[in-house]
Amino acid sequence: MAYPRIAPDRLLVEETPASLRRWSTARRRAGETIGLVPTMGALHEGHLNLVTELSKVVDRVVVSIFVNPTQFGPNEDYSRYPRTEAEDLAKLSGLGVVDVVYMPTPDVMYPNGFTTEVSVGGPLTQTLDAVARPGHFTGVATVVSKLLIQTMPDVAAFGEKDYQQLQIIRRMVTDLNLPIEIMPVPTVRDAHGLALSSRNAYLSPEELVSARQLNKILAAAAQRLRNGATGPAACAQAEQELLAAGFASVDYVAFADPDNLAPLETFEGRGRLLAAARLGKTRLIDNMAV
Ligand code: PAJ
Repeated sequence: MAYPRIAPDRLLVEETPASLRRWSTARRRAGETIGLVPTMGALHEGHLNLVTELSKVVDRVVVSIFVNPTQFGPNEDYSRYPRTEAEDLAKLSGLGVVDVVYMPTPDVMYPNGFTTEVSVGGPLTQTLDAVARPGHFTGVATVVSKLLIQTMPDVAAFGEKDYQQLQIIRRMVTDLNLPIEIMPVPTVRDAHGLALSSRNAYLSPEELVSARQLNKILAAAAQRLRNGATGPAACAQAEQELLAAGFASVDYVAFADPDNLAPLETFEGRGRLLAAARLGKTRLIDNMAV
């Protein structure tokens, strides 16, 4: 049976695993492929680009919007994380390629008494953001595995903006033998090179000026690495430059193996440069290939 492509103004919104599964089972029986873009909403062009890119390789697109409480630390921004549901739905419907928006509630995702976690081990979860944000990646791996199991997509898209998250999810999908392809999508930036992020909404005009230095400082460090600087030297200089540009503190600047994120001493053809730094209450991350 043919399934009518949802008109842009008639986006299907599902709120429970059971109703999402009914939909995806029907699509699969009809021989169609399904793609999933997990998000926490407050959608910007970075998210929308994931959706557009994914829609080119699958028949049907599901976008999930769920601000996942378990990936926020006790002193992080869960309660003030931007929630812009009406705008998000309008943006998704405007793309004309989204079939379902999945918006489960916290009590559905975490039923009363919930105690099961998905925790990825090894070096990937002992470095960088895993150190700066204890428990964060267990929250991410748990919710992403739930979203994947609930949707059962053929392909799921993730942004390189959250590079460590992308690598951890790849590890998890391999380790759990999930028959799902993980599609990486390059970072979308503003005209000044600042990586788009829902958290950029927190920045004051002065902080925005500093924030726009982050990618430039990383690009300069990447160039120094290509010219033979050591990882520790290039990263230490970038850290000083971030502080001079107005960042209040730097969680890390690291030059690492692009797959397992182990620190690299020198550039030998491949590497990833990653940074996290704070401007007032806002924590920004960025990364780039060297
Ligand atoms: P969120 O921050 O909303 O991001 C959703 C997806 O959009 C992630 O894959 C992220 O890497 C991607 N993304 C964000 N900004 C981007 C940009 N400027 N360019 C390209 N891609 C970008 O990441 C999460 O939510 C959550 O941890 C989630 C995976 C949904 C689990 O809760």
